[in-house]
Formats: sequence, C-alpha cells, structure tokens
Amino acid sequence: MPVTIRRATIEDIICMQNANLHNLPENYMLKYYMYHILSWPEASFVATTSDLNEPELDELSLEDGRGNEIKLDPHYVAPGEKLVGYVLTKMNDDPDQQNEPPNGHITSLSVMRTYRRMGIAEKLMRQALFALREVYQAEYVSLHVRQSNRAALHLYRDTLEFQMLNVEKSYYQDGEDAYAMKKVLNLDELHPSNFAHPKGSNEKLEDDLESDLLEGLVA
Ligand SMILES: CC(C)(COP(=O)(O)OP(=O)(O)OC[C@H]1O[C@@H](n2cnc3c(N)ncnc32)[C@H](O)[C@@H]1OP(=O)(O)O)[C@@H](O)C(=O)NCCC(=O)NCCS
Repeated sequence: MPVTIRRATIEDIICMQNANLHNLPENYMLKYYMYHILSWPEASFVATTSDLNEPELDELSLEDGRGNEIKLDPHYVAPGEKLVGYVLTKMNDDPDQQNEPPNGHITSLSVMRTYRRMGIAEKLMRQALFALREVYQAEYVSLHVRQSNRAALHLYRDTLEFQMLNVEKSYYQDGEDAYAMKKVLNLDELHPSNFAHPKGSNEKLEDDLESDLLEGLVA
C-alpha cells in the first residue's frame, strides 16, 4: 500500500495525537499540536495511506457545538486516508536562549507498529529537517531520546547522523535518562533529491549500542 508523506495540517492533529498515544509514553494536549502547526505550519509532516479495509475499533466523540455528538475514527484524517506516522517539530522559542542561532527541535516522532521498518520515519525526519532549514533557517536541530529506545537511537545516530551531546539524568517522568542529540543542518545535504545514506542497506546494526554511543559523546 503506497504511503504518502505530506505536510501536517490542523485537520491532522487528532490523528497525530492518537498515534502518539499508541506509540509513546510522552503525550501532549491537542493545543500543543495546534501550537506547533499554527506557529510553524511548514515544519511538521504526516505519513498517510489509503488503507480502506482495515477494521478500526477506536472511536472518538466530538461535540459539534449544537449538542450533537460526532463519532470519528482517530486513525483516519479523512475518509480513506489513514495516518500511519507523523513528525512534530518546532523552532526553539525559549526566551532564555535568544542568543542562540535559530534552531529547531523534534518534539515527537512515531510510526504505527505495522508500518515500521519501511523507511517512513526516516522520510518524515528528512522532510522536517529540510523544511526547518529551508523555511525557518534553522542552523541545527535538537532532540531527546530515551536511552532504552534502540530503534530511535539507530535512526537518529546511524541513519540521520545526529551527534550525541550529553546524557540528561532523569529527563523523563519515569526517571529514565535521555540522550540529548543535535544535528547541524546543511541545505545541500538535506535536499530531498540528495538523501545521503551513510551505511550500506545490508550492513548489520551494532549490538553494543550503548557503549558505542557513549564513546561518541561530544564534550
Ligand atoms: C523509532 C521509530 C519512529 C522508527 O520508525 P520506522 O519507520 O520503523 O523507521 P525507519 O523504517 O525509517 O528506519 C530508519 C532507520 O531507523 C533504525 N531503526 C528503525 N527501527 C529499528 C529497530 N527496530 N531496531 C534497530 N534500528 C531500527 C534503523 O537505523 C533504520 O535504518 P535501516 O532500515 O537502514 O537499518 C518507530 O520504531 C516508532 O514509532 N517507535 C515508537 C515511538 C518512538 O520511539 N519514537 C521516537 C521517540 S524519540
């Protein structure tokens, strides 16, 4: 089933939140998604497919303002268009960091379980990195990732060539440490027609990821 990557819109945010709730323990209120999309409308992306036949059990109720309940399936952004992944990004708007050059942040990324290992997250990320650089002039982008999240660590470090910055102790609510990561954004390298994949596709992934990552920490 072909998967389309396109810019995220306000109409997608219920589905993005639904995917986030399925895939990650870090969840956000709808207004936080809205804030991202309204403030940086070209920086977040969704992956969708026209998978019409899968039964969907989850339902969400909305009130239409006149007391009527509207039932929606939070997997579908539109009839026949199912959301299977998203990347939610922003520019750093921390007033304490105004002396920093413009820089972006990856707030959240996830792909629905049955659609993983198809390259969807990599494509979402590359689109977002390109947009942050080209549209918002981000000089670099940062993110946090759980130390235990091997899939995401491989994606960021090996596929997308993020640098390890440091370990942030007890960054997550459950006490887990985070790796803080950063990638300097170079427009030529990021251009969608010029995706550079540093590793051969059949190269085996390292098993001793943690020691490998710690060795690569940037002071
Ligand atoms: C992490 C996640 C987004 C990856 O999505 P995906 O679409 O399966 O990733 P891709 O197919 O684009 O994989 C790209 C690269 O990521 C890495 N990767 C992805 N899944 C992996 C896994 N299970 N084990 C090891 N490496 C993995 C590989 O480096 C892969 O490159 P390769 O296929 O050339 O080896 C997905 O597993 C997910 O949604 N997980 C739950 C939510 C989450 O952890 N989000 C990140 C929070 S920081």
